[in-house]
Amino acid sequence: MKIAVAKEARDGESRVAMVPELVAKLTGLGYDVAVEPGAGLHALIADEEYAAAGAVLDDAAFDGADLVVSVQPLAAERIRGLARGTTTISFLPVNQEPETVVELRDAGVTAHAVELIPRISRAQSMDALSSQALVSGYRCAIVAAGMLRRFLPLNMTAAGTVQAAEVVVLGAGVAGLQAIATAKRLGAVVRAYDVRAAAAEEIRSMGAKAIDLQLETLEGAGGYAREMTEDRAARQRDLLTPYIAAADALITTAAVPGRTAPMLVTREMVEQMKPGSVVVDLAAETGGNVEGSVAGEVVRIGNAQVWGGRNVPSQMPGPASKLYAQNVVNLVTLMTTRDDEGHALFAPDYADEILSGSCVTQDGRIVHEPTREQIEGPAQPGPEPEPQPEPEPEPETSAPPDEQLDLPYDQEADQ
Ligand SMILES: NC(=O)c1ccc[n+]([C@@H]2O[C@H](COP(=O)([O-])OP(=O)(O)OC[C@H]3O[C@@H](n4cnc5c(N)ncnc54)[C@H](O)[C@@H]3O)[C@@H](O)[C@H]2O)c1
Repeated sequence: MKIAVAKEARDGESRVAMVPELVAKLTGLGYDVAVEPGAGLHALIADEEYAAAGAVLDDAAFDGADLVVSVQPLAAERIRGLARGTTTISFLPVNQEPETVVELRDAGVTAHAVELIPRISRAQSMDALSSQALVSGYRCAIVAAGMLRRFLPLNMTAAGTVQAAEVVVLGAGVAGLQAIATAKRLGAVVRAYDVRAAAAEEIRSMGAKAIDLQLETLEGAGGYAREMTEDRAARQRDLLTPYIAAADALITTAAVPGRTAPMLVTREMVEQMKPGSVVVDLAAETGGNVEGSVAGEVVRIGNAQVWGGRNVPSQMPGPASKLYAQNVVNLVTLMTTRDDEGHALFAPDYADEILSGSCVTQDGRIVHEPTREQIEGPAQPGPEPEPQPEPEPEPETSAPPDEQLDLPYDQEADQ
């Protein structure tokens, strides 16, 4: 059984899906690991480190691979080169890249999208959205600190006192809380707002002040935010304006799953900020929380420099790759069972909601129903099925569940 690690090909992608220190986890499960030469280059990982960890460096790593792991989805020509039945694990934004889904379907690939892994506690160690949001949140705070031309902490010196910088964070999910924690550690006075009811307590637990706008909270399914009406959005913007005007740095991290990012801050609100102020919009790539922000660029709005995030985890490729690789190892472990002789087998059990939930294409079909419907249209009512005779019960051949491999839950990956 062979796992191939892809060399990322997309512009600006510096991460790699496997790191040398975790190769042993895969070889320990019984897999051969083949890495495309140069795969770790942008994450500052040399080919020799993979080789020393037990991987094979091979330009033809995909040949004969049962599983291909990557960060970004594979390019169309690479998908077409895969043997039918190959499994892939990667980010796969199904709404933005229907053409990639079609390629995967037509190539008979079993494609797993890490962003579709259900966010249940058993799947936390595989949750790449969370692990990468953690990196993004930290990075946002550091970018804001670097762009500000002032101290973040209060400085009381013999020459006098310099006040602490004021940082406002909008959106206090995984990324926002990490931005809050980082800005706090740097000594800033931090205020934060989120539409979810539970967020206020989480903000306070980071040592920041929770902004209370006296608006109804918006809890959606699974503890995520729900989309708000335009009226609610306008009231929120009005009430947030004085907080933003008083801030030296504004960091926005708000998202609503499956939708473009909510526009929380208008150009007029930014124009009220002080000279030297900075805005960091983590959501710039998905529509932007700040009107006028541009992904991958710094633009000037009024007195503020507005930084638009673009593939932010990739800006810290070492830790981002390590955390992503840990997510991948945990997912591969879940896909691995033992045969009767105790040998590890790559045999994903699609009765498991983590595997069925994250699987987009399989056996030449799109099996993720919302994506299938988006690409292929509503399901056609088929002919009434012929009544089938009851099947004979099959003798048990697979290992009982308690002989399946234990999932390593890596606490470190979630911190
Ligand atoms: N496996 C799990 O159980 C699991 C995994 C990840 C996250 N979570 C939880 O889910 C929640 C959200 O996680 P996330 O970071 O992935 O969320 P996300 O990336 O979808 O959104 C980021 C934040 O933006 C907030 N937001 C959305 N619209 C807003 C608006 N108009 N104004 C202000 N804030 C707005 C959301 O409430 C969220 O906190 C958190 O409580 C997190 O702890 C659970």
